[in-house]
Amino acid sequence: MKAATYHRYGGPEVVSITEMPRPTPGENEVLIKVHASTVSAGDWRLRSLEVPRGFGLAVRAFAGWSRPRQPVLGGDAAGVIVEKGAGVQGWGIGDAVVAYPSAKMGGHAEYLLMPAKGILALKPERLSFAEAAAIPFGGLTALEFLCDKGRLKAGEKVLIVGASGAVGSAAVQLARHLGAEVTAVCSGANAALVKDLGAAHVVDYKAHDLADLAARFDIILDTTETAPWSRVRHLLTRRGRLLVVSGGLGSMVRMLFNRRIIGGVSMGSTEGLERLMQLVKEGAFFPLIDRGYAFEQVARAHAHVDTGRKTGAVVLAMLPEQQAAGAHTAHLE
Ligand SMILES: NC(=O)c1ccc[n+]([C@@H]2O[C@H](COP(=O)([O-])OP(=O)(O)OC[C@H]3O[C@@H](n4cnc5c(N)ncnc54)[C@H](OP(=O)(O)O)[C@@H]3O)[C@@H](O)[C@H]2O)c1
Repeated sequence: MKAATYHRYGGPEVVSITEMPRPTPGENEVLIKVHASTVSAGDWRLRSLEVPRGFGLAVRAFAGWSRPRQPVLGGDAAGVIVEKGAGVQGWGIGDAVVAYPSAKMGGHAEYLLMPAKGILALKPERLSFAEAAAIPFGGLTALEFLCDKGRLKAGEKVLIVGASGAVGSAAVQLARHLGAEVTAVCSGANAALVKDLGAAHVVDYKAHDLADLAARFDIILDTTETAPWSRVRHLLTRRGRLLVVSGGLGSMVRMLFNRRIIGGVSMGSTEGLERLMQLVKEGAFFPLIDRGYAFEQVARAHAHVDTGRKTGAVVLAMLPEQQAAGAHTAHLE
């Protein structure tokens, strides 16, 4: 099978398409023919080792000290189950699914092995494979931070910093769906987009200093490392929480002493993925897609993600028709 592989850390040029053996599912695994994946901020970090300050050693220890242990990136995938192990129940050949191998990666290949009890859900018919692949990374992270870590309640005021990214665009929609009043921080160019996603107010970070906002928030969710506690604590209500999706070692240390600063790594869950798919079916959530690239253009897709300017997800289309599907902002209603 074809796979996009990398064998050293570095820029987009370290990724190239190579041949690998097609995997065979074990007793409790399914083999998915991947139709679409994404190049995410997670792929960028694991490829480049550009990680928040203080995390370099930990990421090397996880990903491989001098070279990557897992040569195939891709934490999202959508495709069709084509083989399954003898012990697999609940999944059938031909099922169209969305999968989240997450940090185990492997989605940038023609075939992906997943544990049958891994983070897998049926793809709603109304979504193309490209649209489905665009959901897990941003959607599951936003869901876990807002609900499990942040315990968001209806009626709360939420400030989302980085609202036009993959995590932020999902967070705006989910917070709004859960009954929060959302203020989105993004550049002026993306203001209309985030309003469309459900933000009641928009702050252009290029024109205004966050620290000068007069409003107070029950939750601040930061995906950009620009809202550390020292800069935004006066914007929080008495019980307000700062959710650090992206932050350096300083934030981690502060978390040890301050229960209102909440961070960590989102692992995703099957329940979370099923919940997102249900929201899609109800018309309450849709994936924001920046653009799609053909599989052969994987290095170009990485280069675009490296700019840090993408809006939502960048889709990697393993089948040509999924590239077209990924080249728009996918409003479903
Ligand atoms: N903790 C976890 O488990 C976890 C999970 C997933 C992701 N993450 C991390 O979360 C971060 C965000 O991920 P992502 O996928 O959402 O990234 P992304 O899609 O690459 O974010 C890009 C977006 O961020 C916006 N942006 C950049 N600087 C900004 C600023 N100062 N204020 C407001 N918006 C700004 C950009 O808008 P403009 O072009 O308009 O600036 C762009 O639309 C990454 O660092 C990632 O590693 C952590």
